[in-house]
Amino acid sequence: MDLGLSGRGAFVAASSKGMGFATAETFAVEGASVGMCARGADALGAAAERVRSHGVRVSATAADLSDAEQTATAVDRAVQELGRLDCLVVNAGGPPRAMFAELDDARWDGAVSLTLMSAVHLVRAALPALRRSDAPSICFISSWSLKQPIDGLTLSNSLRGAVAGLAKSLSRELAPQVRVNTVLPGTIRTERQLELARAAGATDVEPYMRGLAQDIPLDRIGNPEEVARAVVFLSSPAASYITGATLAVDGGVIRAVV
Ligand SMILES: NC(=O)c1ccc[n+]([C@@H]2O[C@H](COP(=O)([O-])OP(=O)(O)OC[C@H]3O[C@@H](n4cnc5c(N)ncnc54)[C@H](OP(=O)(O)O)[C@@H]3O)[C@@H](O)[C@H]2O)c1
Repeated sequence: MDLGLSGRGAFVAASSKGMGFATAETFAVEGASVGMCARGADALGAAAERVRSHGVRVSATAADLSDAEQTATAVDRAVQELGRLDCLVVNAGGPPRAMFAELDDARWDGAVSLTLMSAVHLVRAALPALRRSDAPSICFISSWSLKQPIDGLTLSNSLRGAVAGLAKSLSRELAPQVRVNTVLPGTIRTERQLELARAAGATDVEPYMRGLAQDIPLDRIGNPEEVARAVVFLSSPAASYITGATLAVDGGVIRAVV
């Protein structure tokens, strides 16, 4: 199947590592030029080199997605350097693990900035360029915690619902021109997952990971590339009649029926 991405431009937020990086690389393999951002300039530079090695143009800008101005600068620069923008992937680092009793207003505000407002700022910055595309799309990388709250991830559990409301609203407000979809990763082997394991008190993360896999029908933790393939498909012209959809890439772990 031809995804129809060759020669197009995609901006993938939070893309020096994990699922963001895998998504950026998958776009490049499909022949799309890629805009990337993350806070750490060194890791971002190395990630951009790997994406560039697939023979596509890459624009990489160090930016903190909690900051509206830095976010807009990264997107604007990508549009300028790539010459077009067809796909936006909304992604950010996950909020920290914490129970309700540990959370003061400053930590709530930080999580709102990182998880909800970064999405608002990314969409706002990208929309003018997306509207010039003949097949524009937005794909949100969210979490399975949208359907089934994860103990200890109160911030994520709470804010994913707000982002889902935003995504669904946009899928209606921006139709018929811009398609908007959401991917819900399950437990995926990334630095974020290793951090969560350590925050949960695991000294040896491998037995901890094997423990997590016991509840997953496909009997293993997922890989970032498996999420990236779903994100890139939903972003592509090949998904031309899919909008407002939420696709779990979770090995079957979500127990909710719908
Ligand atoms: N891994 C899982 O099992 C899993 C499951 C469900 C949902 N999720 C969610 O999926 C998203 C991506 O997770 P991941 O596992 O791919 O994470 P990851 O491997 O830890 O990578 C996170 C990426 O985001 C960047 N980043 C973090 N904070 C940022 C900020 N404030 N501004 C700009 N870039 C930032 C990081 O670079 P810098 O640190 O240099 O900025 C890095 O490139 C998160 O929202 C996470 O909660 C993850």
